[in-house]
Parts: sequence; structure tokens; C-alpha cells
Amino acid sequence: MKVLVTGASGFIGSHACLELLNAGHEVVGFDNFSNSSPESIERVKTLSGKPMRLVKLDLRDPDGLDALIGEGFDAVMHFAGLKAVGESVEKPSLYHDNNVLGTHHLLAAMERTPCRKLVFSSSCTVYGAVEKNPVDERHPRSAVNPYGKTKLDVEDMCYELAAEDKRWKIALLRYFNPVGAHESGRIGEDPQGVPNNLMPYVMQTAVGRREFVNVWGGDYPTHDGTGVRDYIHVVDLALGHVAALDKLDSFKGAQAVNLGTGRGYSVLELIAAAAKAAGKSIPHKIMPRRPGDAPAVWADASLAKKKLGWTATRDLDQMCADAWRWQTGNPAGYGAADVRA
Ligand code: WQD
Repeated sequence: MKVLVTGASGFIGSHACLELLNAGHEVVGFDNFSNSSPESIERVKTLSGKPMRLVKLDLRDPDGLDALIGEGFDAVMHFAGLKAVGESVEKPSLYHDNNVLGTHHLLAAMERTPCRKLVFSSSCTVYGAVEKNPVDERHPRSAVNPYGKTKLDVEDMCYELAAEDKRWKIALLRYFNPVGAHESGRIGEDPQGVPNNLMPYVMQTAVGRREFVNVWGGDYPTHDGTGVRDYIHVVDLALGHVAALDKLDSFKGAQAVNLGTGRGYSVLELIAAAAKAAGKSIPHKIMPRRPGDAPAVWADASLAKKKLGWTATRDLDQMCADAWRWQTGNPAGYGAADVRA
């Protein structure tokens, strides 16, 4: 298939482009490079040995979207979006404008072409405050922060569109916690500034860029008192997207599918696995809980297996080994200077 990938040079987008190329698809990507570097796609082309076009374009440019999508594509894989929960709390209108209005422009541009196949990067965040695990796709949705609200709003746009026009086939892929890097160590997660998420912060601590890991909460009702999450290797996640694309013809309208491993790991378990990968202890301190964090969230991943024929295969040790290889091989990411907050 000829696939348009939005947010192509980002963490998940770049890994998805690599697996799409490896699977024989023709890929054109765009990105506004607000939180990524075109260098990631240069490396994707080297790793795959395949050509790929990358265009600088912003979701908030309807004319630019019309021109590019008007070239004709079989499907769109949509990753472009702002994704920092904390930032979304400070700048909710920026998040709505970029993530929701931007996606509206993308869908409108698609509607002016025959293309009605979409794979959307949704998130387990749409489940809000999770009371019972594992979480399946029937769990009620609610927004607990503006970022999560944008994901929920885009899902609703997709449901409405597919209800009006039966030609639409949309996979709403709800990620749990993507971590790790391609085994080559050439592409990976390149957070700007101080990482909010656990794995990049742990890895930066392991290489000495951070003094210690703040363990946000040691008194949760979990086996060791620290927060539990369903970490999923980014390559497993990328392969889940390729599987969804291949199965889109079987979708009826817009349908949500969890992409997780079905297994939860605690903060302390991840730190221990990272220490094993790095061959050194990683300093950490138990601190007060981070507001808004759920004690435990992990996926019921059975629908993905049934509908996509996909399951995650990489365990926490491999996630940490691959993250460590990326971190040590690219201490400043794709060359962006680390600006300490
Ligand atoms: C994981 C665990 C923290 C940092 C994020 C996004 C969400 C979705 C999934 C995309 C929690 C603890 C963290 C640190 C810590 N992504 N932690 N010290 O909050 O589960 O969700 O990924 O859609 O939108 O927000 O991920 O990595 O921030 O936290 O103790 O320095 O690690 O309390 O238990 P989270 P996270």
C-alpha cells in the first residue's frame, strides 16, 4: 500500500515507518519537527535500505494537507500531535488546536480524496481513572487531563465520521506505555528537556545526566508500593500498527483496539531491569505521589490478538536493553542540545 504517515519523524512514527518499509509498503511522511528531527528518517532509510519521502508540514495547514493528500494514498497512519500531559494542563487550547482541530483538517483533506482508511494513535489515557485491571476496550472513557481529552475528542470525531459514511475504516489504537528503541540503537526516544516519562528519565540517570530517579509514590496499593504500568516495546507497537493496516478491510467503521502486553510492571521493577541492562545501580528516591497518577494500569490485550493477529513479544529486559543501547549510542538524542529546565 501507499501510506501517508503524519508525525513520521517522532518516536513512534519513525519506528512505524521502519516497519512499514520492511513490510514492503510505500511510505510518505510529514512532520512539523516541533518535537522531532528529520535525522530519524534518514536513519530509517538506512536501516530499511528503502527510499522514503519526508515533507515539512503542519496539521494546522489545511492547504498544505490538501496538496499532499491530493497526491493519492491508500491509507493514512496518524501520529502527529502534542503529547505532554503536564504541558497540556498549562496550554489546553494549544492542545485542542493542534491535536483536535489539526486532525479535523486531516480528515477533511482525506474526504476530498477516495482515501477512507485511517490508523489513529490513540491512548490508554482515554480510560481516565482506571479502577479495575486489566482494562479492556469496553472500559468507560473519561478525560483526566487536556491531553487525554484531545485523544477522546479525536476518537469521537472518527466514530461520527464512520457512522455518516460507511466507507470509512478506522483503527483507534490505544497505546499503553511505549518504551525502548529499535535493536540497532539508531532510532529511539528523544525527549526535549527534562523527561516526564519514566524510562527516558531512568536511562538519563543511568548515564549520569540526572542525579537520581524520583519514584513518584511508594505507598500505592501495589505489590511493592510503586506505580504499575503496561510497558510495551516501541517495535512491538509499530508492528501492531502494520498488523492493523493489514486488517483494516475487516473493520466496520471506527473500532478501538488496545496495544499493550497485558502485563504490568512497577516503577521499582523497571528501575531494576534498567540497572541490569546498564550493568550498574541506578540511584532513586521514593518521593510523594505525582498528582493525577493512577496506582495501576495494564491492558487486556486479547482483542488485538483476535482482530489483528498481533501480540507483543518483547519483555521488560529487552525494552531496557534496547533503550540503554539507544541512550549510550546517542547521549544527546538526534543532536538536539539538552536544555536543562
Ligand atoms: C509511568 C509510571 C509514574 C516518571 C504516559 C502518558 C500517557 C500515555 C502513557 C501516551 C507512573 C512513574 C514517572 C518519573 C516515576 N502515553 N514515574 N518517576 O503517566 O503512565 O502515562 O504514558 O499516550 O499519556 O502520560 O507514564 O512514564 O510518566 O509514568 O516514578 O520520573 O512511572 O508515577 O507510575 P504515564 P510515565
